[in-house]
Amino acid sequence: MSDTGTDTAFWHPFAPMGAVRHSEFVITRGQDVWLFDEQGSRYLDATASLWCVNAGHGRAEIVEAVAAQMRELATYQTFGDFANHPAQELSRRLAALAPMPGAKVFLASGGGDAIDTAAKMSREYFARTGEPERTVLISREYAYHGTHGFGTSLGGMPANRVAAPFVPDVVRVAYDDPAALEKEIELIGPERVAAFFVEPVIGAGGVLPPPPGYIEQTRDICSRHGVLFVVDSVICGFGRLGDWFGVDRFGVVPDLVVFAKGVTSGYLPLGGVVVHERVAAPFWEPGAPAFRHGATYAGHPTVCAAALANLDVLADEGLLKRAESLETTLHAALRSLGDHPLVAEVRGGTGVLGALEFDPERLASEPGLPAVVARHARERGVLIRPMISSVAFSPPLTLTDDHLDLLTAAVRGALDAAA
Ligand SMILES: Cc1ncc(COP(=O)(O)O)c(C=O)c1O
Repeated sequence: MSDTGTDTAFWHPFAPMGAVRHSEFVITRGQDVWLFDEQGSRYLDATASLWCVNAGHGRAEIVEAVAAQMRELATYQTFGDFANHPAQELSRRLAALAPMPGAKVFLASGGGDAIDTAAKMSREYFARTGEPERTVLISREYAYHGTHGFGTSLGGMPANRVAAPFVPDVVRVAYDDPAALEKEIELIGPERVAAFFVEPVIGAGGVLPPPPGYIEQTRDICSRHGVLFVVDSVICGFGRLGDWFGVDRFGVVPDLVVFAKGVTSGYLPLGGVVVHERVAAPFWEPGAPAFRHGATYAGHPTVCAAALANLDVLADEGLLKRAESLETTLHAALRSLGDHPLVAEVRGGTGVLGALEFDPERLASEPGLPAVVARHARERGVLIRPMISSVAFSPPLTLTDDHLDLLTAAVRGALDAAA
């Protein structure tokens, strides 16, 4: 662990810089589930960076694909009719894997700008199909949709609602009650509602799996009221829930799927939106005007090459299948910590995601408890993620039972130390 004492110029995201400026934790190397710091100490990466290194660190296949692409054509823009082979191939592959027919793929640089893309595309879809009054976007309490303009407004974690005023016509409903969504749509008037944004498993808001039937019922409610069903699978995709798009397991057909993170296992920044052919139609039919939206790095050839190599790794090594068993073993490992007096609830069991929720009384007297537990775990060689009232787990999909034993022992030690 590093306390350099030097004053950094690097402004970290989501960080109290007054404290962090003199004590950065500098990671220098990664291999599979392991990370190494400046001093050479080794850590188990039980969070896969920020829920994203699904294939594990140090994959030579991805590195070589990126280097080869950089030698050929490192970068070029894709506005207008410009294209490149990796962007074409990645879009083709994602469309073929997507749980909706004839899908089109809009590429962005990460989850936040993909969310902004989905929000603007939803409103623009209705503007083009004769229902311009459909502008309202509905999201859920505890939701996290990134920190861009629309994502901040859609977010359901009060602590993250900074820099008001927010985007107008955005409302939130309870995270676990389909009836609350229907009631809200009826209250607003269905003719005014454009889209409902839903994470299959809420991630940063606390790892909250959907109640049984929630995804299916909300899909149905949206269909009945003509509201677009936008799945935010930024965390849940590419194996995290044991399938490609984090929603396939529920057997529903989304209108839009927002993805990022695991599409490259985080090796390079990439996000995007997979769009149902029905939603894409008013943008793709002959004579349709351009959707005046997009970023310099959309369809960046090197980034797309990283994604293609990552998809090969996930498929060739059967990591989606592996995730299915890891979902059970991770949940069992976390449940074995449920008897600890600091732990009020163990969440997980839907995907390779889990959380330990802390005792509310203890949290009330010590709001920094999640960070304290995470720090103790780090001292024991395991990186876990502190959240508002819990700590989260989202390891690479290559995690083994031995790693899980190590994780459980270190976290129990960390809980004891914090208690
Ligand atoms: C569900 C979800 N949506 C969107 C985002 C934003 O992605 P990014 O951080 O790449 O902007 C995140 C990031 O954690 C996320 O978890």
